[in-house]
Amino acid sequence: MREVLNFIENSRETYLNQLFEFLRIPSVSADPKYKPDIERCALWVKNKLKEAGVSEAKLIETGGNPIVYGEWLEAGKDKPTVLIYGHYDVQPVDPLELWDSDPFEPTIKNGKIYARGSSDDKGQVFTHIKAFEAFMKTKGKAPVNVKFLIEGEEEAGEGHIEEFIAKNKKLLAADVSLISDTEWFADGMPSICYALRGIAFFEIEIVGPSKDLHSGTYGGGVDNPAIVLADIISRLKDKYGRITIPGFYDDVLELTEEEKKAIASLPFDLEAYKKEIGVSSLYGEIGYSPLERVWARPSLDVNGIKGGYIGEGAKTVLPSKASAKISMRLVPNQKADDVIKKAEDYVKELAPPTVKIDFKALHGGNPVLAPIDSPPITAAKKALKKAFGKEPAFMREGGSIPVTESFLNELDAPPVLMGLGLPGDNIHSPNESLALENFYGGVKASAYFLDEYSKID
Ligand code: BES
Ligand code: MN
Ligand code: MN
Repeated sequence: MREVLNFIENSRETYLNQLFEFLRIPSVSADPKYKPDIERCALWVKNKLKEAGVSEAKLIETGGNPIVYGEWLEAGKDKPTVLIYGHYDVQPVDPLELWDSDPFEPTIKNGKIYARGSSDDKGQVFTHIKAFEAFMKTKGKAPVNVKFLIEGEEEAGEGHIEEFIAKNKKLLAADVSLISDTEWFADGMPSICYALRGIAFFEIEIVGPSKDLHSGTYGGGVDNPAIVLADIISRLKDKYGRITIPGFYDDVLELTEEEKKAIASLPFDLEAYKKEIGVSSLYGEIGYSPLERVWARPSLDVNGIKGGYIGEGAKTVLPSKASAKISMRLVPNQKADDVIKKAEDYVKELAPPTVKIDFKALHGGNPVLAPIDSPPITAAKKALKKAFGKEPAFMREGGSIPVTESFLNELDAPPVLMGLGLPGDNIHSPNESLALENFYGGVKASAYFLDEYSKID
């Protein structure tokens, strides 16, 4: 490993320059106007895989944004295969005015790279390409077989990756999936994530009168869609912070006493947490700690709400329509399809006969709970210890990476979530960043993982 590590150590400048090129491509998947940049970005990733030494790299058209696939399978049949997943698409940048520097012109400040996608997920996925390359350039081979699957629709929600996996099980067959798209529990605390929440997203539209009405002429005599909407939303949760959709909790797996203890033993700093998000007190389901609520309990949130006049000044109007986008985060063993159906039935039941209600299911993704006592997790533990000099912590994550469930259940390739982000990275927010040391250390961690995992199987 010495040669490989020296190579990585001596390539810092090259890595950074290349990562900057990657970050300069505004590959925003949510907005069709960036389609040419998405295409350019996919091609850039494909070329980097080629340069790194894969025997085959290709762009796969899906009907959406291209999937980049690359493989190198010359380690031998007796060696395991690692499927490396990441995404090259990024979140939109708005509100742009809150950025201290251009989101697509990476800037280094206080040991961090600031740019959209630096942490989520370009910087993280790039570490694996470079780790693989370091083996190829020094030893002419990698210790395990490697497949890269890097997609461009993760942030958009409605992608094609799951369908692609289901249809290409042979191509993607692997012993384990390696994903760096999560965060450490705290600065200086390398972490392995073993569970992700799922998501079920829907939109409801309440339609009342066929046009906006004068609120004096008609107010009090015609039901108001905005009020109906507010009423429905307010009835989705009770005063104990529990979701009221019938059957919603049916499949929720409770935490074991052992896991509760493990979570409670993490150094959670309540005051720092509140300060970081700018609230004076927390909220949540009664009977659960703050970490349990966001990691192991489902949630329901309004992501956006629309209706009536919200321009300057006053306009006395009774709106014809009102709508809201609502997402639920799911935990093992809830299923997105099942929960969305239950939400639809309940919401429709809540709507009074004075309005019409339109329910639209948007995207969904199932939660995942990965086995902890497994050879790949042991390899990840050793790899992080060697790369960062500290025993990693085990944590869950409140966010979702829906494809992970397909790796586990469709491909039987349990996920190793070896993320490199930090809690203050501002993913999806203005001033997203990635710590330089996490980036460079991440390349080493990935290299160590491939090495350690090759010894285990
Ligand atoms: N990398 C994130 C998932 C994540 C979030 C990891 C927070 C660690 C902390 C991923 O790119 C993401 O944003 N996922 C979306 C999925 C959705 C669009 C289906 C999410 O969680 O909202
Ligand atoms: Mn991500
Ligand atoms: Mn994201």
